[in-house]
Amino acid sequence: MCCSKVTKDQALEIIKRYEQVLAIISKYGKAKEQLLSILLDIQASSGENYVAEVWAEVVACQLDLPITKVHDVLTFYAMFNIEPRGQYVIEICKSTPCHVTKADAVVAMFEEVLGIKLGQTTPDNLFTLMHTSCVGACDIGPVAKIGDEVYGNLTPAKVAEIIASYRGVSLCQK
Ligand code: FES
Repeated sequence: MCCSKVTKDQALEIIKRYEQVLAIISKYGKAKEQLLSILLDIQASSGENYVAEVWAEVVACQLDLPITKVHDVLTFYAMFNIEPRGQYVIEICKSTPCHVTKADAVVAMFEEVLGIKLGQTTPDNLFTLMHTSCVGACDIGPVAKIGDEVYGNLTPAKVAEIIASYRGVSLCQK
């Protein structure tokens, strides 16, 4: 009797992903100076917007780098995630100036529209809701950041509009 908890389909998926990661590393010629680009491609192709530990180890091995170097990059740059995230990470500023302009209400607005709680990801893997510290737009607080875009003076209507626009973008990309 087989005691493995990994099904054949899961094993094939892991092999497929391993080959995909190797192809990304090869595309950049296994060059150490391409570490950021390699990790970004691995994250973008993960389907869950993050770099899993196992692939960080493969990168370290293939580039002949210490794993600590790869970890340093993954934890230093805000653009990298080491846990599964939605395609769009919504970061709501919780620093004091935004807090006094009702950042908590903004969290509640996004929770309402998305049907998830802070720290969670929507079932379609499109949005993750998180807190962040000051993003430098205190004059238009309360503020939320999605990728490089900063949205201020948020109201329930504006939040619904923002989410609809991202869902529209996503639909267009399919
Ligand atoms: S305190 Fe929120 S953007 Fe600065």
